[in-house]
Amino acid sequence: MIKLLFLPIILASILLRASQLTAQEPDPADSLPPGEGKELVTAACVQCHALRTAVAPQRDAEGWKATVYDMISRGAQIFPEEAEVIIEYLSRARGPESAPSSAAPVQGYRDERTAVESTGQGELLITPLVHGTVLFQYQGRSIYVDPIGKTDYGRLPRPDLVVITDDHPDHLELETLGKISTPDTLVLAPEAVKAHLPKSVVLKNGDQYDFQGIKVQAVPMYNLVRERSPGIKYHPPGKGNGYLFVFGVKRVYVAGDTECIPEMKNLREIDIAFVPINLPYTMPPQEAAECVKQFRPKVVYPYHQGNSDPGEFARQLQSEPQIQVRTLPLP
Ligand code: HEC
Repeated sequence: MIKLLFLPIILASILLRASQLTAQEPDPADSLPPGEGKELVTAACVQCHALRTAVAPQRDAEGWKATVYDMISRGAQIFPEEAEVIIEYLSRARGPESAPSSAAPVQGYRDERTAVESTGQGELLITPLVHGTVLFQYQGRSIYVDPIGKTDYGRLPRPDLVVITDDHPDHLELETLGKISTPDTLVLAPEAVKAHLPKSVVLKNGDQYDFQGIKVQAVPMYNLVRERSPGIKYHPPGKGNGYLFVFGVKRVYVAGDTECIPEMKNLREIDIAFVPINLPYTMPPQEAAECVKQFRPKVVYPYHQGNSDPGEFARQLQSEPQIQVRTLPLP
């Protein structure tokens, strides 16, 4: 009798639950990546509320630290060492850029500077940020060239790959790198950077690296005439790297700090190029434009601008309608 009394209520609640389920977002608790942190979270964060509640927000390391210590102050039984592991795990698994469900591709970051290129294998998003810093997003991966401060990384994706051109402070900024990197971030860099970043993988001029299907080749960058002091060039040959990336059918060249060297003039079939225009370290806009007329990329960004005028670079290339110049303020 009692059973019969409850049956309609049970049925109704099942139906209600089913309709709620279909309307729900994917549960982030279902797609937590494996790891020591996951075991701790699933043990320590379920005593007072559902796991779903614990892992629903997306926060950075600071945010998760605050949350975990808040929970400890509410009575969560967690040792400090465990808290460290949990914070580290959650800021990776449920970081600001983590997908709501790991099955869904990461939504690319875009702003008014972002250009979208087709590659035959998905979109390539190009976002020049500041000075020599460029963000590429391709097939759910984020690649930064020379990430330095002077720009807000708060809304930007964490890097899967960072490539560094040189050890000069406007290209290698350890503090910024430490802030944006994850434990899985790979850094490719010339030998000179290795001393500051022991975990980096060294590429010499000419070396190639295959990063998950993205080909990265280190190419020469150096001064021909501009010197720091008599006989000492700002950038001697062989020390720093420019980079040539292959994203599907698109070949992208990031020149680094260089003048119009023969290796640049001899490049062929470049779709998108980044060319420096500042003095005294690289070359003035007019010289850079002359160089671009030699290797004829389809698109060129004057970057690493210092006090030079990117508009001057664009004017020098007005006679070349096949070369599209994209100017942004990138001092
Ligand atoms: C001792 C009980 C307890 C434990 C254990 C616990 N929490 Fe909580 N948690 C709470 C309470 C109480 C609230 C509701 C607080 C409120 O009113 O906002 C809460 C709310 C939350 C929220 C939602 C509020 C917010 O900050 O967005 C998150 C997220 C959260 N907990 C994460 C965690 C994580 C992660 C763990 C494991 C490290 C954890 N909790 C373990 C008690 C606990």
